[in-house]
Amino acid sequence: MSFDAHYISEKVFQPSLPFKENAVVNTDDLYQEADQDRMEFWNKQAQKLEWIKPWEATCEWNKPFAKWFVNGKLNASVNCIDRHLETKKDKIALQWEGENGLERNITYKELSQHVNQLSNVLRNQLSVKKGDRVTLYMPLIPELVFAVLACARIGAIHSVVFGGFSAESLKDRVQDSDSKLVITADGGSRRGKILNLKNIVDEALDNNEHHVENVLVVKHAHNDCHWEEGRDVDYQTSMEKESAECKAEVMDSEDPLFILYTSGTTGKPKGILHTTGGYLTHATYSTKVVFDLKDDDVYWCTADIGWITGHTYLTYGPLSNGATVFMYEGTPDYPDQGIFWKLIEKYKISIMYTAPTAIRSFMKWGDHIPAKYDLSSLRLLGSVGEPINPEAWTWYYTHIGNNNCPIVDTWWQTETGGIMISTLPGLHNMKPGYAGKPLPGISADICDHKDASVQKGGGLLSLTEPWPSMARGIWGDNERFKEVYWSQLDSYFTGDGAIRDKDGYIMVLGRVDDVINIAGHRIGTMEVESSLVDCDKVAEAAVVGVQDEIKGQALLAFVILKKDTVETDELKYELKQFVSKKISPIAKPKFIVFTEDLPKTRSGKIMRRLLKAIALNQEVGDTTSLANPGIVSELRERFKKEKKESIPQI
Ligand code: WT7
Repeated sequence: MSFDAHYISEKVFQPSLPFKENAVVNTDDLYQEADQDRMEFWNKQAQKLEWIKPWEATCEWNKPFAKWFVNGKLNASVNCIDRHLETKKDKIALQWEGENGLERNITYKELSQHVNQLSNVLRNQLSVKKGDRVTLYMPLIPELVFAVLACARIGAIHSVVFGGFSAESLKDRVQDSDSKLVITADGGSRRGKILNLKNIVDEALDNNEHHVENVLVVKHAHNDCHWEEGRDVDYQTSMEKESAECKAEVMDSEDPLFILYTSGTTGKPKGILHTTGGYLTHATYSTKVVFDLKDDDVYWCTADIGWITGHTYLTYGPLSNGATVFMYEGTPDYPDQGIFWKLIEKYKISIMYTAPTAIRSFMKWGDHIPAKYDLSSLRLLGSVGEPINPEAWTWYYTHIGNNNCPIVDTWWQTETGGIMISTLPGLHNMKPGYAGKPLPGISADICDHKDASVQKGGGLLSLTEPWPSMARGIWGDNERFKEVYWSQLDSYFTGDGAIRDKDGYIMVLGRVDDVINIAGHRIGTMEVESSLVDCDKVAEAAVVGVQDEIKGQALLAFVILKKDTVETDELKYELKQFVSKKISPIAKPKFIVFTEDLPKTRSGKIMRRLLKAIALNQEVGDTTSLANPGIVSELRERFKKEKKESIPQI
């Protein structure tokens, strides 16, 4: 990729004086402390948690494997629940609304009861032990939070799989993690329809290649579903048998807390492993300072718990801080395009954290929609998942924040566990398009391919010192962990390209590898290619990213069909559905271009660089090494035609 900024905005915005005055952080002190003694700084952050036994050393660094708060003992669920019970038992922990208007308010005391009972169910009835893996495949309902925290309480390792993933993707993840239990629901609501999650679980488990003993089913949507006697267990009736007291497991700081799968450059998703003490320390600290979290805030992170954002900033971070978290099981366009603003007005939400793709949709739907609602409860806005273009930033700032709410553009990854780069809202000015600076305690640099720090212009974004919430590995594949993240540069390589301005603000430009960011979700092009060639009509496929007005990026697939297969529009549709069913609707190509050939070197290697240039309508440069130079202009023409003819998909 080239490192030219897509957009340079010269505008600088300042937080208001009252915001600054009341902010959690409004001086440079944290930066100074961290610069003077980084380890002491992290010790101080970790001390804010409740530990059963203190740690003996802050960090043991055996590149690329870190240990933080060595030999310290704690439990994450105790930190998110029990320690608040003395002062906050009647405070609302979770405020939930369903798509059909159903409401639930859960206090910290009630959260404690649910989580303890569920922990007992797992331990006593389903014999889940410390270290066992549990896959959670659920809608965004309070029971998903209970399940996450119950696993944490008994030391089981949770692996949440987003409810939009297909049976096959779920199967791969259940198998790779070797889960003993799956927790699911009968169904979840999606735009007025019910998604039968239980059926998908049944399909995923319909083979002998796993060790799942039980499926615990929450009756949520009350749809009919198949019941497998002896394996399936009803959530409600099991809960009723258990007491609301369950002793928390004593966890080592380095005991695994969860695995979360994310896409990489190969066809196989990576199970990113996070451990307990370091992860929770950074989750707690970063939530507090980046979101300026106060006791009376109503905080809404719109992400699903199936993604890392929902782990760190819907569950562990805010609950560890004793906050009131709002959750909504639904999409921004149903029952109408005003639903998000209606919820903000109704629940007096003060902090909203969402993704640029959603903001661009809101923008397209029109200013008049949010204008109908009272959004004056908002005081801080956040953005995550992909670069935010200044136009969307400014719209968010003006039409949602009423020119009065700072925006934090937070850069991080599944692998980093928590926010690495952002402005601190009461301290820094904001520059649309720039995420900001590394947080106190975090060190980042921009390097060239030879690992030298780049002072001017762009380069590869790397994180140069270990941090508490860094991934501890890829589940079952530490060699891949070393190769993907630690072999290109001397320090951790993020996969992103970035530039830095004179004030040290970092603008993240996007991925430099074959990972595509669609609406804030990572999809590896290889994964889509291998799913396409699984279709018996396809001989070969090459997938690249194209720009998309709303989703940031979308997929373009060049497909060579098998002999005697006819190129029809129906087949294009069929292939899109095929990928959607195999991986997830997120991975569905937007464009399919049939071709008889791909640009290849004389040794038969596909030149992806050329396909990327075609997708982005850029010059291709030197093509003399191609076996078939004419193919480039041919594919360009075909893609142009496809763009003109393809029917936009919702
Ligand atoms: C990739 C990580 C972090 C939680 C959600 C996605 C991109 C993320 C930003 C941002 C520019 C961003 C990067 C990164 N990304 N936040 N504020 N500005 N790019 O987590 O699925 O692990 O994806 O998302 O490309 O590498 P993820």
